[in-house]
Amino acid sequence: MNRIRKLATLSRSQSVIEGAGVRLHRAVGIGDEYQFDPFLLLDDIHSADPADYLLGFPWHPHRGIETVTYVLNGTVEHGDSIGNRGAINSGDVQWMTAGNGIIHQEMPKRTPGVFRGLQLWVNLPRTHKMMEPRYRGLAAAEIPACELPDGTLVRVLAGRFGDCEGPARDLVRAPTYFDLTLPPGQTFTHPFPSGHTVFAYVLEGSGAFGDESAVAHRNVALFGDGELFRAESGPEGLRFFLFSGEPLREPIAWRGPIVMNTEEELYTAFQELDEGSFIKSKEQEGADGATHGKGFYRR
Ligand code: CO
Repeated sequence: MNRIRKLATLSRSQSVIEGAGVRLHRAVGIGDEYQFDPFLLLDDIHSADPADYLLGFPWHPHRGIETVTYVLNGTVEHGDSIGNRGAINSGDVQWMTAGNGIIHQEMPKRTPGVFRGLQLWVNLPRTHKMMEPRYRGLAAAEIPACELPDGTLVRVLAGRFGDCEGPARDLVRAPTYFDLTLPPGQTFTHPFPSGHTVFAYVLEGSGAFGDESAVAHRNVALFGDGELFRAESGPEGLRFFLFSGEPLREPIAWRGPIVMNTEEELYTAFQELDEGSFIKSKEQEGADGATHGKGFYRR
């Protein structure tokens, strides 16, 4: 029989101010990076007040990580040093590998009703921290959704669920990222390899995870080892995000938007930012001006 994964920790996303003054909820990334390995950070912006998000995340660098931005409701305009410019709209996903260095900006636009978006950071292994940067924008229609006979809807951003394979296939760490909506009173199970990190973040509704631990809006549930993830929805149904990945088990040296293995590598990165030699790839020539916009945001 498959061992059900039980909750290891249950917390709640915390209110923080990030970027140029964005009020968001941080679910992962509060001194817990070794527990969530290979995941570093999960931020949740949800607000009906544009003052909470319009200041956005102006030009800032990244190195050593991959980020996945998922806009649930609203629009984020972005631009980066490898020449991408565009808008991420409701349901779209942007996948970015910072690798040896990228400079970008992410600016949420005024949205009627509630703006809502998530950003996940996945750590890169030592062997890939200095790879060439790359970017991929995925439209909502490209993200497969599997509907189960009980009405459960599984949107697969990355990884595989039955016949649904997520479009973000070239992720270095091959994580799983599902957006799950369970109708009231349903049970959902999914196997993950033993030893892999598994966690969930609740968006709406209520229910229970693992061995009947009650969860609701903004809960972050990290699971202990086992073979089978299990969730049960309450009377209002349950929508949550489910993540899984193989841990890197490497030292993490993290300062702001840059995540390396050693303090020395961090020092080098910030020195290069000061000297204007941060950007490595040839296509990015001319982008260094952006590095001199001081003030390094975390994301
Ligand atoms: Co960023």
